[in-house]
Amino acid sequence: MNQLPNALQFSHLLLKEAVSTGDQVIDGTIGNGNDTLLLAKLVGENGTVYGFDIQQQALQHTISLLEKNLSGLQNVQLYKKSHAEIDNVLDNNVRISAAIFNLGYLPGGDKSIITKSTSTLTALTTCLKKLQVGGLVVIVVYYGHPGGKKEEESVVDFCQNLPQKNFAVLNYSFVNQAHEPPFVLAIQKLK
Ligand SMILES: C[S@@+](CC[C@H](N)C(=O)[O-])C[C@H]1O[C@@H](n2cnc3c(N)ncnc32)[C@H](O)[C@@H]1O
Repeated sequence: MNQLPNALQFSHLLLKEAVSTGDQVIDGTIGNGNDTLLLAKLVGENGTVYGFDIQQQALQHTISLLEKNLSGLQNVQLYKKSHAEIDNVLDNNVRISAAIFNLGYLPGGDKSIITKSTSTLTALTTCLKKLQVGGLVVIVVYYGHPGGKKEEESVVDFCQNLPQKNFAVLNYSFVNQAHEPPFVLAIQKLK
């Protein structure tokens, strides 16, 4: 058997299972655009990726990654806005098969600009409202940076309190690794 996938690889495996061509999906933290690119490929020309980040640098990196790897950007809509605004920005009728959040700071960017629990929980609540039955909200939790632990505790608490009859929540983590390795929370809507 191959080595177990790391958190990032596992999050992509989950997205590949959850997303089909033509779907609408959300990238709540576009950063350098790696998740946005995967989602754009998965939804294809007839689907839509809605991407959010508060940093212009993230939008620039994402646009150049998409331009290098895709023939067009017509299926990706990027917003320089907090993911807390998702509910205000997207049409009420939008229903998603998946959303991804990579928490923490922009790799290669300003490490003091981090995701924070209040806006993260607002965004997760909106995504769960927009999620189709069977769909997934995937969260890659990085918490080794200053401020990260507080957000991690809030997000885990939020997930643990989701009603079992409506949601199944998975925690994928390596329990014997040093240095606070990232882990994945995946929330599936059951009904
Ligand atoms: C770990 S990075 C994301 C990595 C990205 N998914 C990738 O594939 O490269 C976290 C990103 O969250 C962004 N961020 C922080 N607060 C945010 C907020 N309230 N709304 C949206 N994005 C936010 C940061 O600017 C940063 O780019």
